[in-house]
Amino acid sequence: MQRELRVPVVSFTFGLLSNDDVARLHAAGLYVIGTATHVAEGLAWRDAGADAIVAQGAEAGGHRGTFIGAFDEALIGTMALVPQLADATGLPVLAAGGIMDGRGVAAALALGARAAMMGSAFITCAESAISPAWKDRLRSMPDTATSVTRAITGRHARGIRNPLMLRLSEAAQKIAPYPVQNALTQELRQTASRAGNGDYLSLWSGQGAHLGRKRREGLGAAELVAQLDQEWRAAVARIASLER
Ligand SMILES: Cc1cc2nc3c(=O)[nH]c(=O)nc-3n(C[C@H](O)[C@H](O)[C@H](O)COP(=O)(O)O)c2cc1C
Repeated sequence: MQRELRVPVVSFTFGLLSNDDVARLHAAGLYVIGTATHVAEGLAWRDAGADAIVAQGAEAGGHRGTFIGAFDEALIGTMALVPQLADATGLPVLAAGGIMDGRGVAAALALGARAAMMGSAFITCAESAISPAWKDRLRSMPDTATSVTRAITGRHARGIRNPLMLRLSEAAQKIAPYPVQNALTQELRQTASRAGNGDYLSLWSGQGAHLGRKRREGLGAAELVAQLDQEWRAAVARIASLER
């Protein structure tokens, strides 16, 4: 890594680094974050020397970070996962999965997270390069619209069901491992993107994406962060007012 770039933080979503690799990153002055979908993975990252853990709940959009055990045994909801990881590892936890507004951020903090990590809320922002067809589906989807599949890339990931996901899932025995399946479906997905055809895109999304519909279309990422900042403070104040 080029030292002059001075990257302050590295975050890993797939797999686990060795102690030596984490030590090399620390020696270069980096803060190291690993992703865990259950407690054993969090402990493995802690033992490898990570500084913090992303707790990726089952609600999360995009690829699953599971690297120990079966993926379907690691679909633990954010609400259950965050406090268990915080207690077990003693490390700062970043909650990820289903957090779309300040209520979710406040809930994550109440559960013991130090921060919230959000994907689906940002991919409809003005700066996001995803296709308009994908943005449209994110804004119109109901809460039941997503599934976890490995049919599109060969690794389990949560996205909105569409003909691409459903048709590829029909022949499970033909799905190649990641990254081969990803490469095999790439041209089709790129062509669909150019044609504005949402039926054959990989529509990665978390279960909460529908909540983003209340925000102005084309909102900038900085404006979204400012709104989230106001919202989580208001949520905490509302909870505090319940005591009176
Ligand atoms: C379109 C999309 C792409 C993503 N790409 C990455 C990635 O490259 N690296 C990563 O660590 N996580 C990635 N994620 C996962 C997020 O970091 C996070 O786990 C997830 O978005 C949290 O759930 P949410 O989508 O409900 O907010 C991606 C998520 C989405 C929706």
